[in-house]
Amino acid sequence: MEQVMNLQCSPASILPATVVFIHLLTFTLVSSFQLGSWLENLAVRENGQLLVSRLDTPEVLQVDPTSNVEPVTVFAWNSSEYRGALGISETTSDVFYVILSAFINSSFVKTSGVNSIFEIDMNNFAISNGTITQNATVTKLVDITSSDSLNGMTTLDDSNILVGDIYNGWVYKVNTVDGTHNIVIDDPKMKAPAGALTPLGVNGLNIHDSNLYWTNSAAASLNRIQITDDGTPVGNSSVVLTNEPGADDFAFKSNGTAFIALNSQDQLGALFAGSSTLETVAGSSISTALEGVSAGRFGRLASDLNRLYMTTSGGAKNPINGSVIVGATVSYIDTTGL
Ligand SMILES: *[C@@H]1O[C@H](CO)[C@@H](O)[C@H](O)[C@H]1NC(C)=O
Ligand SMILES: *[C@@H]1O[C@H](CO)[C@@H](O)[C@H](O)[C@H]1NC(C)=O
Ligand SMILES: *[C@@H]1O[C@H](CO)[C@@H](O)[C@H](O)[C@H]1NC(C)=O
Ligand SMILES: *[C@@H]1O[C@H](CO)[C@@H](O)[C@H](O)[C@H]1NC(C)=O
Ligand SMILES: *[C@@H]1O[C@H](CO)[C@@H](O)[C@H](O)[C@H]1NC(C)=O
Ligand SMILES: *[C@@H]1O[C@H](CO)[C@@H](O)[C@H](O)[C@H]1NC(C)=O
Ligand SMILES: *[C@@H]1O[C@H](CO)[C@@H](O)[C@H](O)[C@H]1NC(C)=O
Repeated sequence: MEQVMNLQCSPASILPATVVFIHLLTFTLVSSFQLGSWLENLAVRENGQLLVSRLDTPEVLQVDPTSNVEPVTVFAWNSSEYRGALGISETTSDVFYVILSAFINSSFVKTSGVNSIFEIDMNNFAISNGTITQNATVTKLVDITSSDSLNGMTTLDDSNILVGDIYNGWVYKVNTVDGTHNIVIDDPKMKAPAGALTPLGVNGLNIHDSNLYWTNSAAASLNRIQITDDGTPVGNSSVVLTNEPGADDFAFKSNGTAFIALNSQDQLGALFAGSSTLETVAGSSISTALEGVSAGRFGRLASDLNRLYMTTSGGAKNPINGSVIVGATVSYIDTTGL
């Protein structure tokens, strides 16, 4: 099922008519999944392996970025209890938290179930020749009963995570030791604009330089607000970038370049520090290479620090040319020089 392909994108296949871009990146497919699969988010383990969450079914997988080992299911939740898995983030060494989501209707209103945060402790996880020989320790941290639809997650510190409610447009601070939580930021720029076709606000979350950054899906924007070490917002929020439909999860490179997954545009954008223009660096709205790109995270090994690993949904919500969908993928680009 998995294959490594070195798809050197040619300008003709990557360049959408209206977007100017200056960089031509090597794009490498790590793993592809069956039609109907939807990969939503990912985190990188210290040992370089990727933990990937699935939204079409509640699962977290381990994907080997070298493609030497087939993806394995780390944990599968009961699909009658949870619709899917979303934001995933590490606190202390090899301890991750992941969102398991309730069921929603087509207006994105929760109809049954509850949104929960689970802990996945990978410290004892072991795999040999592609077979799990010791399972991860998976435990429920807490149910977030006041939430409608949790989506993005980022780590605040060793014992706190921030979790966004994309429908209500606010962010929880969740203590990972005792599960206590409260809405720590409830900002107007986290809400979907009144009358938006899809009422989805705060999506990807990342902390960079003492600011919390977030994308707002319906507003097609990237925003930020200064926060203190304990996550308390300071002053007013501001808009960093507008007019980027499909802005989903994103990642900061150490020098401040933000790489933003533009899900419905099937492209990866780069916002260079100090710039107010997003440049397309991979993908195109007529190519399935990054169809439904949902998130990106940088490698953590000396050998892959410049690699941005990406998940895709395969475009089920937004087929290329109105009809072309593919299975979800994990792939990477080498961002050396960006
Ligand atoms: C999954 O959840 C449903 C609903 O709560 C329950 O009826 C069923 O027994 C569960 N399945 C497993 C395998 O635990
Ligand atoms: C979704 O559920 C909410 C709350 O029950 C309801 O108001 C809304 O009409 C539902 N949307 C659809 C499309 O059924
Ligand atoms: C590894 O797994 C493959 C496929 O399951 C099997 O054919 C092979 O014998 C295994 N190798 C070892 C060393 O166990
Ligand atoms: C891991 O957990 C699964 C699901 O509960 C179980 O089927 C499997 O036997 C476990 N593997 C090991 C090595 O304990
Ligand atoms: C924050 O926004 C409010 C309302 O727009 C405005 O009155 C206030 O001056 C702003 N504060 C700062 C520090 O910019
Ligand atoms: C989408 O349509 C364009 C224009 O006809 C074509 O060049 C492109 O190959 C199509 N993409 C896919 C994935 O079929
Ligand atoms: C980020 O680092 C790369 C080198 O890895 C450099 O080419 C690029 O210009 C840097 N970006 C900024 C905004 O400094």
